[in-house]
Amino acid sequence: MCGIVGYVGREEAAPILLEGLGRLEYRGYDSAGIAVCTGKQLSVHKAKGRLRILSDMLDGGRLVKGCVGVGHTRWATHGAPSDVNSHPQVSRSGKIAVVHNGIIENYAELKAFLQEQGVPFTSETDTEVVAQLVEYFYEDGKVDILEAVGRCLHRIEGAYALGILCADAPEQMIAVRKDSPLILGFGDGCSFLASDVTAILRHTRRVAYLDDGDTAVLTREGVQCYNYLMQPIEKTVSYVDWEIDAAEKGGYEHFMFKEIMEQPEALRRAVFPRIRDGEVVLEDLSLTNKYIRGLHKLYIVACGSSYHVGMVGKYNLERILRLPVEVALASEFRYMEPIVDEHTLVVVISQSGETLDTMAALREAKRLGAKILSIVNVVGSSIARESDEVLYTWAGPEIAVATTKAYTTQLAVLDLLGLYLSKILGTMDAAERRTVLDEMLLLPEKMEKILEKKEDIQYFASRYFNHNSVFFIGRNIDYALGLEGSLKLKEISYIHSEAYASGELKHGTISLIEEGTLVVALGTYGKLFDKAMSNIVEVKTRGGDVLALTTESRQEEMAKTANGVIAIPDAHPMLMPSLGVAPLQLFSYYVALMRGCDIDKPRNLAKSVTVE
Ligand code: M6R
Repeated sequence: MCGIVGYVGREEAAPILLEGLGRLEYRGYDSAGIAVCTGKQLSVHKAKGRLRILSDMLDGGRLVKGCVGVGHTRWATHGAPSDVNSHPQVSRSGKIAVVHNGIIENYAELKAFLQEQGVPFTSETDTEVVAQLVEYFYEDGKVDILEAVGRCLHRIEGAYALGILCADAPEQMIAVRKDSPLILGFGDGCSFLASDVTAILRHTRRVAYLDDGDTAVLTREGVQCYNYLMQPIEKTVSYVDWEIDAAEKGGYEHFMFKEIMEQPEALRRAVFPRIRDGEVVLEDLSLTNKYIRGLHKLYIVACGSSYHVGMVGKYNLERILRLPVEVALASEFRYMEPIVDEHTLVVVISQSGETLDTMAALREAKRLGAKILSIVNVVGSSIARESDEVLYTWAGPEIAVATTKAYTTQLAVLDLLGLYLSKILGTMDAAERRTVLDEMLLLPEKMEKILEKKEDIQYFASRYFNHNSVFFIGRNIDYALGLEGSLKLKEISYIHSEAYASGELKHGTISLIEEGTLVVALGTYGKLFDKAMSNIVEVKTRGGDVLALTTESRQEEMAKTANGVIAIPDAHPMLMPSLGVAPLQLFSYYVALMRGCDIDKPRNLAKSVTVE
């Protein structure tokens, strides 16, 4: 979603801002802009469309002079994508420039108030209200810019990460955070602001995370932070230890493909340190055995692919824990009056750790008395910081909008959590647990085997890429896997696709199957293989073209009925989705490639969804 980069230093700001914004492109955006303090004026430049348009307009930033500036990539919420609605939004005198991630919920009321005072508006954005309101408090000259921002914060409601420049204070930038991530970076003789650490990693590895309610004043000499009462506070400085290369394509055509291929390594990082002597070791957890034995249920809350991980988790964890495991879409959770109390462990899953719906669900669960355990990829993210317990997935930076290695590692970590809890609860046969753990250690190798055979999947993609509608069917964990396969395909190839539990077909959807309809049938769950076969026959009888995914041991049998078969190595049933997802990711990737889609940045989507 929207991205923010700010710089206060001695070098020309514009090229630094444009380069930083380039690193945030993956988050999804529809326009970009920068504002730079040039003498006692603000030089503001904005353009709808790709960042390259803005960059070309400014000759890579060389046409804009000044060492203090802020940049933004916008993902439209209030007001269509356009030059005028892009950020920075500027106050009527041109003195105040604001970039904003999030939504100002009471903007309409504030706008009406300001208009009554004669303030003219030029954009349809909620952000312009902030720029105009800061100026409204500032323009009588009785308060300084920091005080004017403070007054504005008292009036605005909603979620915001703000970067604010004032032409009268050209040596500084003000940053504010509430419910939308914002990071400070510390360099030699310079300070940085970013919504995502990748934007500033080229310049510094020393960062601090702003908390909700924090305000910061960035200068060349350093950063002064304040809490919500505007009392000075010290922030803890963290060191980012991953390499910038991890967030670059490294010779691959697309981040998505790179990240698919990185899965074996990501699985090694997520799993290997957590299995010792045939048992799960979760050193990062501090849950007591007493608490675990007192649990009445688990509630998994997440969005999108992370929710699909939860769906697999429901089948796997309920079976081995003999505890109810509920799974809820985070966007629904807080409005459904969930039955959650201190005997509920709420497992929050989020790659980015910044998804607003998920964060809201987390807070609601906390309010209801539950303990929160999050499974998160981005270290230091908001969800990680607000959780009681965190298990990091250690997948490394994931840039492509379509998640791949984050899904696989989330699933592995959730399985590990289940196995860990099962030992304390005594609900799983110890030998079976040992088998699953031994097999988890083989996952990276098996995944490598699947990825080596990518050309087979490319072949199937070439056979089916011009279909306009696809159904994914499966039972139990294969149904949960189908949800992810279907989402992957639709989000990057724009092909209409739906996932169904195979048994549901006959309750309605089968009426859509006609000559040539592509049905991806998932049959990796051995226990229900025969039932999967019956459903495939039903589809074929109605003219459906079936591409099946199954295990090597069932490949031959499947080939007798399906039109095409993708086979993956056999494994313990619990682990089949961890392997089965790889061919589905590759299938979507190749289909999207053949359809000429913008794979890493699919239309209308954002990597980190920080609006409700
Ligand atoms: O960062 P999160 O895991 O909280 O994100 C949740 C979803 O937005 C995300 O999984 C989305 O569905 C992906 N684009 C799917 O590939």
